[in-house]
Amino acid sequence: MSSGVESGLGGRQQLLHSQEPRAPGGRSRRSRGPDPVSAARTLRPMRIGIVGLGYVGLPLAVAFGDAGHAVVGYDTSGPRVERLSRGESDIEDVPSERLAALGDSFTASTDAEGLARCDAVLICVPTPLANEREPDLSYITGAARTLAGVIREGQTVVLESTTYPGTTRDHLRPLLEESGLRAGADFHLAYSPERIDPGRADHTVANTPKVVGGITAACADSAAEVYGEICDEVVQVSSPEAAELTKLLENIFRSVNIALVNELAQLTDRLGIDIWEVVDAAATKPFGFMRFEPGPGMGGHCLPVDPFYLAFKAREHDFYTEFVELAGKINQAQPLFCVRKIERALNEVGKPVNGSKILLIGVSYKPGVADLREAPSLKIIRHLRELEADVGYHDPLVPELAEQGLSSQPLPEAVPEADLVAIVTPHPGIDVDDLLRRSQLLVDFRGVTRGVEAPNLVRL
Ligand SMILES: NC(=O)c1ccc[n+]([C@@H]2O[C@H](COP(=O)([O-])OP(=O)(O)OC[C@H]3O[C@@H](n4cnc5c(N)ncnc54)[C@H](O)[C@@H]3O)[C@@H](O)[C@H]2O)c1
Repeated sequence: MSSGVESGLGGRQQLLHSQEPRAPGGRSRRSRGPDPVSAARTLRPMRIGIVGLGYVGLPLAVAFGDAGHAVVGYDTSGPRVERLSRGESDIEDVPSERLAALGDSFTASTDAEGLARCDAVLICVPTPLANEREPDLSYITGAARTLAGVIREGQTVVLESTTYPGTTRDHLRPLLEESGLRAGADFHLAYSPERIDPGRADHTVANTPKVVGGITAACADSAAEVYGEICDEVVQVSSPEAAELTKLLENIFRSVNIALVNELAQLTDRLGIDIWEVVDAAATKPFGFMRFEPGPGMGGHCLPVDPFYLAFKAREHDFYTEFVELAGKINQAQPLFCVRKIERALNEVGKPVNGSKILLIGVSYKPGVADLREAPSLKIIRHLRELEADVGYHDPLVPELAEQGLSSQPLPEAVPEADLVAIVTPHPGIDVDDLLRRSQLLVDFRGVTRGVEAPNLVRL
């Protein structure tokens, strides 16, 4: 295979033969603006392939489309591809109108052929846990095998899925090289973690700095050039491993701090102190403190999952990430603490859980999104049902919980009928005052009633 081919990016002749890694700890920043990157964009728009069009892939696809590039989406889910091809988005952060406005510059397909014509291909497939809570890289493997069948010289391939350090180099690279092409010589290979926070409007793909680490310095430069098209700032680190661990550090930082306030919430429950008042007061410190909120437990595809990726990698090196695992343990137990809180609240008014009508408000894992992955509400429902409670829910974003055989109930009827109403995920628009007025007993796991005292109100 020849080395020193054109990258095809932005029409610039970028040679691939540089295999020199960036100096350890080396880091560079580049900004979007009136620089050669923007100039290249004007000369020749790129064709970007996105593998996996979910919470991460679709916003990226739209960002590149909005920036004037052609986007080729590839997803194994037929129904999702059909919806997207009709211009219908199922991701809250991407309104259908925005997707439809891209017109022919965005295509979605279950056929990977179109990826062959792309300048860059970004892999955004799931990285869940297997049964023993070990990393499940099967989606990355599947995507890599498919890509190996269509990859072309000069392309830039970037893995975005959250994973443990070494995945890009040791797992993805050999699979892609089954194509006969060599990473760093015939095609660029890099890792760049996605930092999107679904439902968030203040930090977007554009204004959230993008971390990039390449197999070689040229790989990192090439990936940085791609992201420079849609991100105001790209931060280069010395290797894919550094970039992979950066993402895990960010998520584990959150997981550990959430565990800390959740543990404190369990303690303040015994001490008779209001945890929300304490968090609010601590947050007045202008330095050295960062606010984290307690709640019903961690959910989503990232925080409950990612620490296990690091723990797995650490075990391979005879190292136990005790701190990280302890945080996971505390957070996983939090829904059970919530169930006990419900039990005690009912007990106070002389009712058993058995046979009581309990209405959960919000079942997705966070306000404003419909995502149910690892949602603590599901654990709460399971445990309450084990105690023979009659559980229902209201969630405007989740019309059905098919596995539980439940549908979202209309608030006006369901609230007064319930023996206990529990706020698990307060979506925007939920009228908390009205809930408190009409509930026989209201339990608030999110602190949305902070500062309010009422005989029918119990707060985490
Ligand atoms: N959701 C988030 O908030 C978030 C934030 C940062 C990082 N991440 C990470 O990004 C990755 C993707 O997460 P997501 O939330 O977008 O997942 P998702 O489930 O919303 O989307 C993944 C998509 O990939 C498709 N897919 C699966 N296997 C495929 C294959 N072999 N080829 C092509 N498509 C395939 C699925 O059909 C699905 O549409 C994960 O590693 C996750 O940890 C997620």
